[in-house]
Amino acid sequence: MDSLAYRENIGKKLNIGREILYLTREDCMSTGLSTEDIISITRSALEAHGRKKTEMPAKIGIHPLKNTFFHAMPALVPGENACGMKWVECFPENPFRFNLAQTSGLLIFNDMESGFPLAIMDAIWITAKRTPAVSALSARYLADSSAETFGMFGCGVQGREHVRFMPKELKNLKKIYIYDVVPAAMDSLIEEIQPEVDAEIIPAASVEEMVKSCEVLASATAILEKPDPKVRDQWIQKGQTVLICDLDSFWEIETMRRADKFLVDDIGQHRHFDEAGYYPDGMPENIYGETGEVVAGIKAGRERKDELIVASNIGMAVEDVVMARTVLDRALEMGLGVKLPL
Ligand SMILES: NC(=O)c1ccc[n+]([C@@H]2O[C@H](COP(=O)([O-])OP(=O)(O)OC[C@H]3O[C@@H](n4cnc5c(N)ncnc54)[C@H](O)[C@@H]3O)[C@@H](O)[C@H]2O)c1
Repeated sequence: MDSLAYRENIGKKLNIGREILYLTREDCMSTGLSTEDIISITRSALEAHGRKKTEMPAKIGIHPLKNTFFHAMPALVPGENACGMKWVECFPENPFRFNLAQTSGLLIFNDMESGFPLAIMDAIWITAKRTPAVSALSARYLADSSAETFGMFGCGVQGREHVRFMPKELKNLKKIYIYDVVPAAMDSLIEEIQPEVDAEIIPAASVEEMVKSCEVLASATAILEKPDPKVRDQWIQKGQTVLICDLDSFWEIETMRRADKFLVDDIGQHRHFDEAGYYPDGMPENIYGETGEVVAGIKAGRERKDELIVASNIGMAVEDVVMARTVLDRALEMGLGVKLPL
């Protein structure tokens, strides 16, 4: 459907230019998108990005407190009629200071033809779901498909969803190791997710033990202005796959530099973080390609069992707006949300 036809369709349910649909987190969840749906939607965003069929400037940010950020994340994916911007925040101390989540945000979804906003929606749920979908798709192409072990560093919102999503793409997983500095976070992950996954979820005794036990590893801890890597490069072996959601905070830069394949989700965005000083020793320059290029089949994923592959997926607005389009479509169909006058 082209953007004018899409607009006409939306216009049957929403008075475009006069009102918007406001969707809470509960509304987004009520759309009933399954894990498989979300992986498929995210795949379309990654493929479009890989084929350079998107417009997405690097996220810009403001930083009120140490190790915090707000990011403005605009994106256009014309082939998906997806256009808008996420305004997302990460405040790692929130759980301790205010009993609130680390990550929050809102997304404005716009009409591509008139530019008018169509919806404002919670972005916590979208972020929580599309990020592990990216990691799971990365694992599908970059990890050995026979992998039986996955390890997740950080057992918060992202950690829980990663454990939920990863078995969908790594079909042979037998053991999922988890590690968090807060032991209670590991307990609640097991309680919540173990009933849903066949692989046994095992709390790891240490970072080193987990690195040495897993073929595929992922991290979603906290993005630090000055990285404080917990994984020693010498623990990492050929053949492993490392999927990073938290920039260079948790892993030594040497691991990225010596990887047989080092991928990033968006080169411009990573350069932007480099310029902002997040890579104190400079960003690794051995970039093999972007995640979307591999998902779109433009570049090869894993070619040999013994390759060390590292992918840094720090999150792309194209993933958010494509998810938001589906959420809006379903919400209008199902009569979810509240219409607000403009
Ligand atoms: N790449 C992306 O697209 C994307 C999207 C959303 C969030 N993130 C990042 O993912 C990270 C986690 O986000 P979240 O919403 O899950 O946060 P969260 O607060 O819900 O969970 C983070 C967990 O990591 C644990 N942790 C912190 N430091 C640790 C360490 N050194 N070792 C082990 N565990 C540690 C915390 O105890 C907590 O349980 C943040 O850095 C955030 O910026 C990335």
